[in-house]
Amino acid sequence: MTAPLAFDVRRFGSVDSTNTRCRELAEQGAGEGTLVVAAEQTGGRGRHGRQWHSPPGNFYGSLLLRPALALADAASLSLVIGLAALDAVEALAGRRLPVVVKWPNDLLLGRRKLAGILLEGVAEADGRCAWLVAGLGVNLASHPDLPGHPSTALAEEGIEGATVEAFLPAYLNALSRHLPVWQAKGFAPFRDAWLGRAAGLGQPVSLRIGDVAHGGILADLSPDGSILIESPLGCLQQFTAGELFFADAADGTSGPA
Ligand code: BTN
Repeated sequence: MTAPLAFDVRRFGSVDSTNTRCRELAEQGAGEGTLVVAAEQTGGRGRHGRQWHSPPGNFYGSLLLRPALALADAASLSLVIGLAALDAVEALAGRRLPVVVKWPNDLLLGRRKLAGILLEGVAEADGRCAWLVAGLGVNLASHPDLPGHPSTALAEEGIEGATVEAFLPAYLNALSRHLPVWQAKGFAPFRDAWLGRAAGLGQPVSLRIGDVAHGGILADLSPDGSILIESPLGCLQQFTAGELFFADAADGTSGPA
């Protein structure tokens, strides 16, 4: 049996970044389950220092957790948030969609980016997690037009009623089902579901870590959420972080999406 998580949803009009606002609240002692939602962001942030397109109409939300884990062991939260976002998107659509999860933090629809997750946290001196903020951005109404970064929005895919007001309760519902399981048992119970919706499984990929690229076949996902890439020499290598590129994209989407 796992304890239910109580959400404290704090709605804002415009903020620089919901992750930044949520971090400030965390540092002021806000409790686990605080969810900062904003109508727009003036300084929305993505991974690797990228900007996140944040006009009104899309979802921007950052959830505060304080898991009893080493910060280094909390990265799989990104994958669980991805599954919760996928569930919420399909609940909103009222049907299964060809949405896939791209390790570690994206939802793609037709190889185009629909949503992204930014996980940020701080550790205590002994390595335990002081706080963890999981920021989710979902392109509901619009998406940016960035060369080399194909993206889409639910509205563009013909999904009616793709509003923040419809998405938020669906997301809270999915989080309330998934998070207690992750807190009690880690990522292992989600592995099969994640693999069942994974982008690029069995395909050639390149994982970039800093200036080094590791090429091979995306072979599997480990029970802790790290990926396994089979090198050209047949050696399985396990990675906990990095930026994944699809090597075989014939449509110009070989970038990080
Ligand atoms: C990525 O794909 O690079 C991650 C994008 C994360 C964007 C979300 S929007 C809500 C939260 N606030 C931010 O500034 N970023 C995240």
